[in-house]
Amino acid sequence: MKKRIAIFASGSGSNAQKLMEHFMDRSDVEIALVLTNNPDAFVLQRADNFEIPSHIFTRDEFYHSDSIINMLKNLDIDLIVLAGFLWLIPKNLLAAYPGRIINIHPALLPKYGGKGMYGDHVHNAVLQAGEAEGGITIHYVDEKYDEGEYIYQARYKIDTNDNLELIKFKGQQLEHLHFPRVVDSILKKIKK
Ligand code: GAR
Repeated sequence: MKKRIAIFASGSGSNAQKLMEHFMDRSDVEIALVLTNNPDAFVLQRADNFEIPSHIFTRDEFYHSDSIINMLKNLDIDLIVLAGFLWLIPKNLLAAYPGRIINIHPALLPKYGGKGMYGDHVHNAVLQAGEAEGGITIHYVDEKYDEGEYIYQARYKIDTNDNLELIKFKGQQLEHLHFPRVVDSILKKIKK
């Protein structure tokens, strides 16, 4: 039986795109839905390009109804992947998908995580701290920002002359390389 993924993303969706490319020719896995809180998110265009349905939701729908859970259950979703999604996951969604929601974060957690730590905020903090290395973390999602059990981490070196753009690029390269592979291996462990 096919395993089905739903991707939540708030912005560009370059990681979502890597997942779409990775799974596009697979008969055993389907990205069944892309969801976003942001009507202007470029990830919507990417979903369209791959003919993947998408859904835009409001804060009210996300935090004060079960309609998204019902949508995910109707589509028989097995795994929820957060790919640059910036809202905290509500308790009812966590309860509906225990151990089935994962996130990617552009830092070596537990450093540089938590509320407000996303995108350039993370990279700026890493630079300002004078870190010699940066990295990415793929982890399970719980009720706090960036705190669930770690699944995978990868590191890159930071040279003294590195600027924001460069470390962002290094992090993104790692994300694009590892995220599809890690999602794939998690899916293989899910029994239908
Ligand atoms: C990624 O770097 C991801 O790690 C980060 O947002 C970016 C989304 O890029 N996520 C967080 O910061 C979550 N706290 P993308 O839209 O190009 O995939």
